[in-house]
Order: sequence, then C-alpha cells, then structure tokens
Amino acid sequence: MVNNMKSFIVTSIVIIVCFIFIVFKGIGIGEESITSTYDDEQEGLNEQIVINFSHVVAENTPKGLAAQKFSNLVQEKTEGKVKVEVFPNGELYSDSDELQALIRGEVEMIAPSFSNITPYETEWLVLDLPFLFKDDDHVEKVLNGEIGKKLLGEIKNRDVKGLAFWPNGFKQMTSNKGPLIEPVDFRGLRFRIMPSKGLEEQFRMLGARTNVMPFNQVYRNFETRYIDGGENTISNIYSKRFYTVQEYMTLSNHGYLGYAVLINQAFWDSLSKDIQEAIIVAMDETTDWLFEHNVEINEQQLRAIRNGSDIQIHELTEEERKKWIDFFEPMYKEHAIKYGDKWLTEILELSAKTHIGK
Ligand code: LMR
Repeated sequence: MVNNMKSFIVTSIVIIVCFIFIVFKGIGIGEESITSTYDDEQEGLNEQIVINFSHVVAENTPKGLAAQKFSNLVQEKTEGKVKVEVFPNGELYSDSDELQALIRGEVEMIAPSFSNITPYETEWLVLDLPFLFKDDDHVEKVLNGEIGKKLLGEIKNRDVKGLAFWPNGFKQMTSNKGPLIEPVDFRGLRFRIMPSKGLEEQFRMLGARTNVMPFNQVYRNFETRYIDGGENTISNIYSKRFYTVQEYMTLSNHGYLGYAVLINQAFWDSLSKDIQEAIIVAMDETTDWLFEHNVEINEQQLRAIRNGSDIQIHELTEEERKKWIDFFEPMYKEHAIKYGDKWLTEILELSAKTHIGK
C-alpha cells in the first residue's frame, strides 16, 4: 500500500516536471531567453535603420573621412534613428564587385570612383579625359554644380540613385622603371588602370600596356613588379604606401579622381520622407565640407611622402605640361565622335567662365 502510494507520487512528479518542460519549451522560454537580459534601448534599436556604406580606401583619405563625417551627421540629424556603418579598405566589397552588390541590394551605399562607373555610364568617360579640369575650382563647379546634378540624375540603372559627387584630387603618375617626364617615357611600360576605356586609351596613346586591376591588388603588384606603374591621387599613394614600392612620381595633375556616392534605389524608396530629407541634408553638408578640405588633405600627405621616403618626385614644368596637353588633344575629338560632345562642351564652357579675368 505504502509502496503503491510512493510510486504514484514519484510518477506524478515526473509527469508534472515533463509537462512544465514541454510547455516552457513550446512557448520559447528556453536557453536563449535566459541569456537575453532586458535592455532598455533594445526596443529603439530594433527600429533603427542601418545603412551599410562600403568603400575601398583607407580611413585617412578624403573619401574615408567624408564617409565617417556623413555617418556622424546622419546619426545627429535623425536623432539616432538611422545608423550609417562605414566599412573602409574594401572590407566588404572590392571596387570590382561593389556596384553589383549595391544593385542586388546586398549593401545600401557605396562611393566608387567615376572611372569605375564608366563601363555602365559611357557618357561619364568625359570625366576621364586628360587635362579636362583646369584646377580644383573648376572641378567643384562641375561636380558640385548643375552638371554634376544632371549627370547623377541621368544614371541609367534604375536600381541605383546618385546622391552626390565627392572629390578626391588630381592623379599623379608613378613608376619603378624611370622618371616619367615626357610622353615618350611611358613607352613599353605596364600600368595598372581602373576599368575605364578612357584610361585605357590614354595609356595606349602613350605606347604603354595596361592591366585593369582592383585597388586592393595594386600594392602587391607594384611590389612584385608585375606592373611598372600607375596613376592615383596623393592620398591613395600615401595611405596605401604605394610610394614605398614605386621609385618615381611625377606631379602631373593630368586626370581627376572623384566619386559618385550611390544608394540602392529600393532601399531609398523604403525610407520615410523625413529620413530622406535628413540624409540629403547630411550628404550636402558632407560634400561641402569635403570640397573645402580635399586639397589640404592631399597636400599634407604629399609633405609626408616628401619627408618620409626616397621616392624621386618631379613636378611638370609649364613647358612639359603643355607638351602633355597637346599630346592628348586628339582624345577630345575622338571622344566627341564616339560619345557626343554634350557634356564636354558644357564642362569646357564652365572652365572658360570660371577663369575669365584670372
Ligand atoms: C582606384 O581604384 O585607384 C581608386 O578608384 C580607389 C578609390 O576609391 O579612390
């Protein structure tokens, strides 16, 4: 009798324990809920919109600094409702795959150089013409003015929205095979280029060979001497230490490296009007800030290269520069025949207006 009673109690306890276990497991009070303690910011964080912004250069460059500034301004202007997570140095995507990632919606924002966009927007090849821009003032009037707005507004790909053009700086030539002072000095050398028909043509005219190569592979290929030279801005040459694996640099200012800041269109359309407005204001402030500071950043880094390395630097004289300009003149006519002269004319006219009386 006593034994029966005992086994009845034990069986009942086992059944009750099993029941409690099944019920709690079923409604999700398991291991996860025990470890996830309550956080009073959690509700807000769940609603936070995150913009992943991927780029390929270092943080201490014009684009790197602007991306961070934009992130801070968006945080401030949306009172934390939107967070811009910046991924520099190609941590997420290289320049050869970031645009496709943006189109597929795998990342929300990127800022590729316009040369990287020319395979998709062939009219943008005008921006790669050598000596198109007279000086930084002309660059700003074009990229941060009406022409820039129109170019961004006419991007053909419907999955991409252009928010702004950002400046970096004029490009300089580097090599490890001898100084590059006259067009003839390029003959037979192999240069790394971005994927632009305009840049390919520029080096073809010089009698050089080219390799299209993502930015993050350039250092290694200079180091192994697979390629002899390249063209880039001082900030990229400095921050990626190209000056340690190249022996000669010509301050040629022959071409311009700027960026189109792009956002995924479907993501943009999903944002409320208020948030869109705040992002536009943050972008405009960042762009103005960058146009005020990009030259100074490049100049400071040129001083650092001069003081801290053995690279031989040659600055083109007026006479040498004139030779280069005349040498590339036929590219303008060819460009107009192939792609039309609408943008070219507008850009050159603006240069004439910009420099009246100077
Ligand atoms: C390059 O590929 O050299 C540049 O486009 C890198 C950059 O984003 O400045």
